[in-house]
Amino acid sequence: MNPPVSHSGATSMRTHMCGDLRASDIGSEVSVCGWVGRRREHGEHLAFVDLRDHSGLLQCVINNNVDVRSEYVVRITGVVRARPEGTVNDSLPTGEIEIGDCEVEILRRSESPPFSIDDRANDVDENVRLQYRYLDLRRSRMQRNLRVRAAVNSAVRTSMERQGFVEVETPMLVPSTPEGAREFLVPSRKSPGEFYALPQSPQLFKQLLMVGGTDRYYQIARCLRDEDLRADRQYEFMQLDMEMSFVEQDDVLDAVGDAVLAAAEAVLGERPPAIERMTWHDSMNRFGIDKPDLRFGMELVELTSTFGSTQFKAFAGAESIKGILVSGGAADFGRNQLDKLTDRAKGIGAKGLVWLKVTSEGFESPVAKFLSEEESASVRAAMSASEGDLILIVADEWATTCEVLGTLRNDLGRPPVHEGPYRYVWIVEFPLFVGVDPVTGTPRPGHHPFTRPHPDDVDRIESDPLSVRSIAYDLVLNGWELGSGSIRIHEPELQRQVFSALGITEEEADSKFGFFLRPFDYGAPPHGGFAFGLDRLTAILAGEDNIREVIAYPKTQSGTDPMTKSPLPVDGEVLGDLGLRVLPKVD
Ligand code: AMO
Ligand code: AMP
Repeated sequence: MNPPVSHSGATSMRTHMCGDLRASDIGSEVSVCGWVGRRREHGEHLAFVDLRDHSGLLQCVINNNVDVRSEYVVRITGVVRARPEGTVNDSLPTGEIEIGDCEVEILRRSESPPFSIDDRANDVDENVRLQYRYLDLRRSRMQRNLRVRAAVNSAVRTSMERQGFVEVETPMLVPSTPEGAREFLVPSRKSPGEFYALPQSPQLFKQLLMVGGTDRYYQIARCLRDEDLRADRQYEFMQLDMEMSFVEQDDVLDAVGDAVLAAAEAVLGERPPAIERMTWHDSMNRFGIDKPDLRFGMELVELTSTFGSTQFKAFAGAESIKGILVSGGAADFGRNQLDKLTDRAKGIGAKGLVWLKVTSEGFESPVAKFLSEEESASVRAAMSASEGDLILIVADEWATTCEVLGTLRNDLGRPPVHEGPYRYVWIVEFPLFVGVDPVTGTPRPGHHPFTRPHPDDVDRIESDPLSVRSIAYDLVLNGWELGSGSIRIHEPELQRQVFSALGITEEEADSKFGFFLRPFDYGAPPHGGFAFGLDRLTAILAGEDNIREVIAYPKTQSGTDPMTKSPLPVDGEVLGDLGLRVLPKVD
């Protein structure tokens, strides 16, 4: 990791940052400021103290009658000298030197901290870390992550500006927008009973910037969504949001790709190769998921025709039969684990899971007897299986077969998200609609309802909506969705057609998004855009697998902030001013 860190921190109180001193400074008198880390008594008169600032640790030799303890804030003035032979610490950048003849000025005392700030203390409960985030932030891991984040922001900003994008801020108090997640509402004091929403993204405003002739917009935008929190999800998160006019898909992918690769280069010191592309359909067929992790194999293998005339009940007549190979897995999976895998598959919607352990003679499996010799041989060949391997097969509708095996593949093979090699991939040609609303019977939008249908498929919007592709694309890194975007609909007639397919009437469209749709009657340019999650990109580049680690003040998994204790009740009077009353909780 190589974030462009500048420690040039000399001030009127200090000459150097702790982590910057080296053997070349031997003999210089220096002043350094920071927090006291570990202290070790040495002989009768001396003590070693690790002095810490964000740049690193520095060993200072002090008189042992100076009462400094953990987390005291001190200023130390002394002379840089070589550590005595045999005491050099190779794991520390300042490990060849120490500060001697120290004069110690105590700037602030500290209470004994609730946990050790030492980086080696890794097992601190997350709630405690977040309750005392200001202490947690003193750790080198957190300081490094904040700096990686700043380097990512700076690199994407520079890339956008180099490409002629203009930074524009969009409002935080907005009407509801149709982006799919639940919104945070803000009551209006002036109009009791009426609400703003906090933006899920600047989507509508950025498109109207295009109608307004801005041509290339970007923003490092705060977005808010009231969704269940996970490793890659927070209520508040940051997007690099952009939109451009008079473009086609390639223009957007090139512009975004430059920003993402520039960020990776800023952190890792090396620009990744050009980002490959895969259609959504290929991604589903090969990896069973629309955010494939390309760091490992175990691809889904097509077996439908192999079982075209099978006598095996579970497979006969299935729309799609696929398998994955767990190399050398036969010995690792006992009956218990195979039952668990089967339950997992059923939990995702499979009717069952066939497992075959490859032996020298054939297969060991409860269903081996139902497979003809020819079928067994074909499966073995198609799967490129050898003795000792484990084959897992699912037969179902295409989407279910893909999803179940895609999930098992990730369960069994996926490394932690931050582990290299970094594999970026564009997924293109997402379907315009995904599935059908069970109540209304109308299709649901795959991205959002302003996404442009693929020109080759437009004439099937009414007759066969689920087969229509869109010009929507995602960027995926190591199995995480980094971002999404699309070329938009800029013609009101086409927009009406898509709304109609979605079962949205003209009146509904007008009342919900009228403010957004009317401007398109005044000459909207062809346009498209994208947004990627800066928290997600930063986490992966920083070597973290939870975005909380790269956010200064995140919420816990249950959506609370242990430091400020929010969310908190408010006074009845405050609620009254807003025209609100809290009802008793219903369970
Ligand atoms: P989308 O909803 O796919 O697209 O969001 C884009 C990216 O934002 C990040 N992201 C999140 N990060 C952390 N916590 C969350 N809760 C969270 N939700 C989303 C992800 C995601 O890929 N307006 C469209 C973009 C467009 O069409 O231009 C949008 O917001 O990295
Ligand atoms: P059954 O005939 O339902 O007892 O299933 C026999 C075996 O086939 C069991 O191991 C099931 O888990 C498996 N199985 C059943 N249906 C499917 C299916 N659609 N796809 C994969 N395996 C299945």
